[in-house]
Amino acid sequence: MIQKYVFGTPFPTDAVVMNMEPAKDSLPFFTVDEQGRFTYALAEDDIVYGLGEQIRGINKRGWQYVSWNYDNPNHHEDARSLYGAHNFILIRGAVTFGAFFDYAGKMTFDIGYTNRSQMTIQAAKNDLVVYIITGETEKDIVKQFRQIIGRSYIPPLWAFGYGQSRWGYKTEQDIRTVAEKYKAAGIPIDSIYLDIDYMERYKDFTVDTERFPNLKKFSEEMQAQGIHLVPIIDAGVKIEKDYDVYEEGVEKNYFCKNAEGGDFVGAVWPGRVHFPDFLQPEARAWFGKKYSVLTEQGIDGFWNDMNEPAIFYTEDRLANTCAEIEKLTSGNMGINEYFAFTGMVAGLNGNIGDYDKFYHNVDGKMVKHSEVHNLYGMNMTRSAFEALQKISPDKRTLFFSRSSYIGAHRYGGIWQGDNKSWWSHILQSMQQLPALNMAGFLFTGCDTGGFGCDTTEDLVLRWLQYSLFTPLFRNHAADGTREQELYQFENVQATGEMIRIRYSLIPYLYSEFLKAALHDEMMFKPLVFDFPEDDMAKQVEDQLLLGNELMIAPIYKQNAQGRYVYLPEEMMLVRMRSCEDYETEVLPKGHHYVAAALDELVFFIRNQKAIPFAKAAENTAELDMHALTMLGYPDCSYELYVDDGISSDMENSLKVSML
Ligand code: NOJ
Repeated sequence: MIQKYVFGTPFPTDAVVMNMEPAKDSLPFFTVDEQGRFTYALAEDDIVYGLGEQIRGINKRGWQYVSWNYDNPNHHEDARSLYGAHNFILIRGAVTFGAFFDYAGKMTFDIGYTNRSQMTIQAAKNDLVVYIITGETEKDIVKQFRQIIGRSYIPPLWAFGYGQSRWGYKTEQDIRTVAEKYKAAGIPIDSIYLDIDYMERYKDFTVDTERFPNLKKFSEEMQAQGIHLVPIIDAGVKIEKDYDVYEEGVEKNYFCKNAEGGDFVGAVWPGRVHFPDFLQPEARAWFGKKYSVLTEQGIDGFWNDMNEPAIFYTEDRLANTCAEIEKLTSGNMGINEYFAFTGMVAGLNGNIGDYDKFYHNVDGKMVKHSEVHNLYGMNMTRSAFEALQKISPDKRTLFFSRSSYIGAHRYGGIWQGDNKSWWSHILQSMQQLPALNMAGFLFTGCDTGGFGCDTTEDLVLRWLQYSLFTPLFRNHAADGTREQELYQFENVQATGEMIRIRYSLIPYLYSEFLKAALHDEMMFKPLVFDFPEDDMAKQVEDQLLLGNELMIAPIYKQNAQGRYVYLPEEMMLVRMRSCEDYETEVLPKGHHYVAAALDELVFFIRNQKAIPFAKAAENTAELDMHALTMLGYPDCSYELYVDDGISSDMENSLKVSML
């Protein structure tokens, strides 16, 4: 059962698509005080799941989280905010229920941080809608929630192929070289990403013709090899005379305004920019149409970036900072002046005060950005999705975004942002998956190999052994870091095998993805969701159930030659070096040490289950989704979901068969 409770005058977020009448009774479970604090007493054994893309464990107890979409490249243990605001939590304990705090601005979730046995949730203003969901099981609660927020985005099948990306590919030739080297190494690939350098001076919907003389021809050349090019689009629009997007936006009042009514100026990659007012339907439609500049050149996938929106600096803050710094540096800088100096410079980027300085036009009323901040990225993705439905109504386009709010899951996927080439970031990504799935985000994954910092060959191998299970499977790295395309490393054989295994698993992964999307279910679940009576399962933080047949337990520690795994039931261990070279072993319920050499992928097939396994292919277009063998327990059937992988009309192309 879902009940809706309205406090004050909430701003409509469009997270929930189902019409619901507010409940007549008062809010259960929480006490609410005059300051708008929602308090819940946590019993010692309660587990708190949820919050989507947040740091820390699957169980969120013991930290304070802030929903404030933030361009935060430091996914440290003490981070409070990342790029998304996913205000759904699920409490499992003496009472089990879900709660969604639908609020567009800043919100704090103190989950046993101030006081270990208390959870306190507070919105910046007490104008919000709270949904309380009760049900038989955790899965049932999640399903009910997902039903009110609408069906998750389904990308084209090719988006399940492997993608190579790097911020630093500058020219058509750089991209061609990547494609050639993958082919030469015999490693399957479906997509190569274009980061900001393909644009002319970082201007959205332009192509630098010195670097990419003919994008249309080039994208055809790549498509002939089965490779899709996926360009980036940033939120900020460069201020530059004669640049059509800038000029039209100014003329039509499609940009966010400052307090004086002028177009607000922030700075990002292109220098000074205006931010499209994605909360205006007309501005959304206008910006969305611009994607056709690229679709006309053969592009069928995009990633939306910097859409929290990220602001490197605002002009007045920069001027004030420079003036203050001049004062500080004019004398002998002692310790206080020195720290004030470094703090001021660091404080320019993403300064929370800057988000009070601009406004959205909502039906003629000016709304301060900070009050609706967390909706910005979602509405940018919505703008693209809705326009693309008109531009190419028959086919699905790949979309994923950095920033999001619940509701954005209907328009695209998300990637997990600027992680680092750290071992701990394998685990961090994995721990976010169930929470993201609860919030509707199924098409997701992280920068495999790590975005910031230099990676190592063993890290890449172990990372692949985790990411090859995630729907979005992309290797991406920051400019200036060690190159991490798979052919850069000595053991190309082993990395290549991991990619081939991924392709063999696509029929299973895609089928489980479709099931999760079409039936409002989770693709990645904590163990206890399927083993509710198992006290050990409820503590497991580094293994996940994947669909209904698999359990994954990746290795995320350097030099580990294996790991401990808990099996909540008898399962079949698969130890795989290649699609053909593997062995299986049935292990009883309980704790096991599982050895896994660096070039060995281990995963588990659940008791009396089997999965479809394809013959690896160079890319998804070559993948035979019908010539499948079964892997797992003998004489077990599997319900396969397949479609044509591209048409928007899913219902008609979907085929369900028993294998
Ligand atoms: C920030 C994004 O998170 C990252 O993936 C991208 O490479 C850089 N912006 C440059 O566009």
